[in-house]
Amino acid sequence: MSVSLHRLKQEEAFAADVRAGLGREGQKTLPSKYFYDPRGSDLFEAITRLPEYGLTRADERVLLSHGREIVESIRGPLVVAELGSGSATKTRHILEAAARRGSLAYHPIEISPAALRESSQGLGDIPGLKITAHRAEYLEGLREVVARVPEGHRLLLLFLGSSIGNFAQEEAEIFLAEVRALLQMGDVLLLGTDLVKPVHRVVPAYDDEAGVTAAFNLNILARINRELGANFELDAFEHKVRYDVALQRVEMHLRSRRDQQVSIPGAGLTVGVLAGETIWTESSHKYRIQDVVDIAARSGFLCEQQWVDQEWPFAESLLRAC
Ligand code: AVI
Repeated sequence: MSVSLHRLKQEEAFAADVRAGLGREGQKTLPSKYFYDPRGSDLFEAITRLPEYGLTRADERVLLSHGREIVESIRGPLVVAELGSGSATKTRHILEAAARRGSLAYHPIEISPAALRESSQGLGDIPGLKITAHRAEYLEGLREVVARVPEGHRLLLLFLGSSIGNFAQEEAEIFLAEVRALLQMGDVLLLGTDLVKPVHRVVPAYDDEAGVTAAFNLNILARINRELGANFELDAFEHKVRYDVALQRVEMHLRSRRDQQVSIPGAGLTVGVLAGETIWTESSHKYRIQDVVDIAARSGFLCEQQWVDQEWPFAESLLRAC
């Protein structure tokens, strides 16, 4: 597909999702995948360095301490792919361990061209590493990758950073089953999941003192203004975080400070928002160790091993396609 056609389709999908989420009866929603325009991606990188947000550092610590062991648990020649690779900083620990066996193909799958460029440049010093970037949504990119895995090679697919937590519960399972359907028996999915932790640790991670997460959340409205010609007044909304203990999830919302009307010409929509009403922008599910074993089994994987960070409960689980 040509670049401009690709962009046109993305713009249409954005407008349709905004129309569906804000034009519906009841709770207004926006899909969290739209956080990640260039400004949103920069803000997310800043979030990963916040003192309150231990998730990314925990993920990296586990990969640093156990990267070699993870790679050694997969026999024979390997190809590595990564869903939502972002800057791929922490992926280095896996790639360095895997490249010790000889030349290695790495396929980052990512919708942000800037992140793909950055990751390719950042990993360019690993000897024997051949990077093929895929600018695509997760499953579309994975389909491209599996078509290129040479006979006799195993695929090690990385899905790090607890991005699975941003799927609704039922959708996470459907997604993992879709991933499984594209893999060969014996291929491996390394899944990172943030674990359940006390409210006093989890809530500040999404409501930091410096207001970076608030800016990240509000940027989705700024993006709708920029790309769909809307007139959201950012000051008229505030960042709100809730933790649902029973459902093990953090919810991010944007709460309207007053009654207001917003026009979104690019989505063909005018929307009324009441004072106190919220737009639900993200869910971030937290897992228990056993939840991962169970969801893996229900979607066609066997959880062979798990590594847990003690400082910030976070698990890396090695799931074998069976
Ligand atoms: C990308 N994802 C795993 C992050 C999370 O923790 O759910 C996104 C995020 N949202 C607010 N802070 C970070």
